[in-house]
Parts: sequence; C-alpha cells; structure tokens
Amino acid sequence: MQDKTIERLIRISKEHPLMPETYVPWQTERQADEVYLPEKLLSLEGTPIFDTLTPAQKLELGRHEIVQVMFSYSWGEALFCVFMSKYLLTLKPTDAEHRFLLRELIEEYRHQEMFAQAITHLGGEPLKQSRAHRFVGTFTTKYLPADYLFMGSLSVELITDMYGNHARRYPATYLVLRKIFDLHNIEEGRHIVFTKWLLKRYTEKAGYIKRSLYSFVILLNIYFVRTMYVKREIYERIGLSNTDDVYKVAFKNYRQKFAENCMKDIIEFVSEWNGFNRVTRWAWRWLLGAEI
Ligand SMILES: [Fe+2]
Ligand SMILES: [Fe+2]
Repeated sequence: MQDKTIERLIRISKEHPLMPETYVPWQTERQADEVYLPEKLLSLEGTPIFDTLTPAQKLELGRHEIVQVMFSYSWGEALFCVFMSKYLLTLKPTDAEHRFLLRELIEEYRHQEMFAQAITHLGGEPLKQSRAHRFVGTFTTKYLPADYLFMGSLSVELITDMYGNHARRYPATYLVLRKIFDLHNIEEGRHIVFTKWLLKRYTEKAGYIKRSLYSFVILLNIYFVRTMYVKREIYERIGLSNTDDVYKVAFKNYRQKFAENCMKDIIEFVSEWNGFNRVTRWAWRWLLGAEI
C-alpha cells in the first residue's frame, strides 16, 4: 500500500465521521421480538441446558453477554490506545502513519464512549476482568515491541469484526445494537486495512522463529478475548443453579462455537504469512479448537 492509500483512509475518516451520538438511534426502544444477541452467539446455545431456559431467561442471557462483550472490547481498545499514544511519539507528525494513527485513536475513543453508553442503555452491570486478564493486558501493553502489539490488536479487530457481523446482519437484533456494530464495522474496516499494511513490513522479513512467535501472540490474544465472555455470575443472574457445572458446559460449548463462527478471517490472515507450522499448529487446535 502506498502513502496514497493511507491518505485516502485519513480523508474518509475526516470527511465522513460517524458520530455515535447521531448514528445510533438511542431513543428507539427494543421491540418485543428483538433480541440482544443472535442465539447462535449465546454461550449456552447448543447445549441441553439451553432448551430448559424460558424465553425471558434466553433474552436476559443475551443482554448480560452482549454487555460483557462490549465491555471487553472497550477495555481492549483502551489498552491499545495507551500503546498507540506511546508509539506515536516515535514518529514524525508529518508521516502518513502518524496522521492515520491519530485518526484511529480518535475513533477508538469514540468507540469506547459508544460502548459505555450502550452498556448504560441496556442497564448492564459488566463483570470486571480477572486478575490474570488485567495482568496480561497491562504487562503486554507496557513491554511488548510494536510489531507484536499490532499483531495482537489486529487479531482482536478481526475477531470483533466477525462477531459484529453476525450481530448486525441478524435482522432480529435490537436496532440500537445493530447500528453500534454497523458503525464499528465501518471504522474497524479501515483500521484493519492499515494494520495489515503495516504488518506486511514485519511478516515479509520474518523467519521461522519470528513467524511462530507472531502466531503465538495472536493465538493468546484471541484466547484472552474469548475467555472474557463466559462468566459464571451471568448464569446466577438468570436464575440457574449449579452454576459451576453450567460454566464448565458453557466454556466447552463456546470454545466450539467461537471456532466455528469467529475465526475464519484470522485463520486466513495467519495462513498468508505461514504462521501455522509444526511449532504452533497444536496450540491453535488445543486452545482454540481451530480446524487447521
Ligand atoms: Fe474500535
Ligand atoms: Fe480499531
């Protein structure tokens, strides 16, 4: 990609800003037949427990899980903004890369505000990240080199995008949420183009070891995001008993669904630069259930 393409991405961002305040019809109430998440994205769908739930419990499960999803994205984006701000200091302000990253930062902050507003709008009570998540998140943001962090962020963006596509293309998703995912999809599409271009520089000259390390960083990022969704407390909130057992069933089930529904693009990306090899393939299969 030439600077010309980056210039075009910058121009679109400036000339067609999508403001969550006006783009999302916040005042529109949920219709009786609208849901918060398509069933196929619910952690329990596909298990015998799911068939025992009442329609109201299924709806509530969707509400709690979408809140958790938006909270996790937003947190991941906040961490990435910290890194991007530091990275900007190493660039010249006149560089196209510098100017694009500023646009990305502006958009990512707007996304975080939008997700926070959506959580409030849904009356959500997000559950905080585990200690392990917090440690890994802040540690990697502080110490990983730029190429690894961009790898991680791209993998999260690709996953978010696929997940969002399922939600926004499902006609019975609550309109407010559909518009949120529309907006996010449009802007993340530009970020993905840019980050892929940026990473090409690194993957082209990477040898076997570096490719394996990149592959592990992506894998761990995805694992990290996926494990923030399924929460025992949510099953308690919708009135289930034996929530430890429910959690175990949901964790296994969601691993399978996530592999089926959300990993197509990321697998394509990693294949492009031969990130699956004898060192990495087993871990993708074992941790993420990836069919590679
Ligand atoms: Fe975003
Ligand atoms: Fe982004």
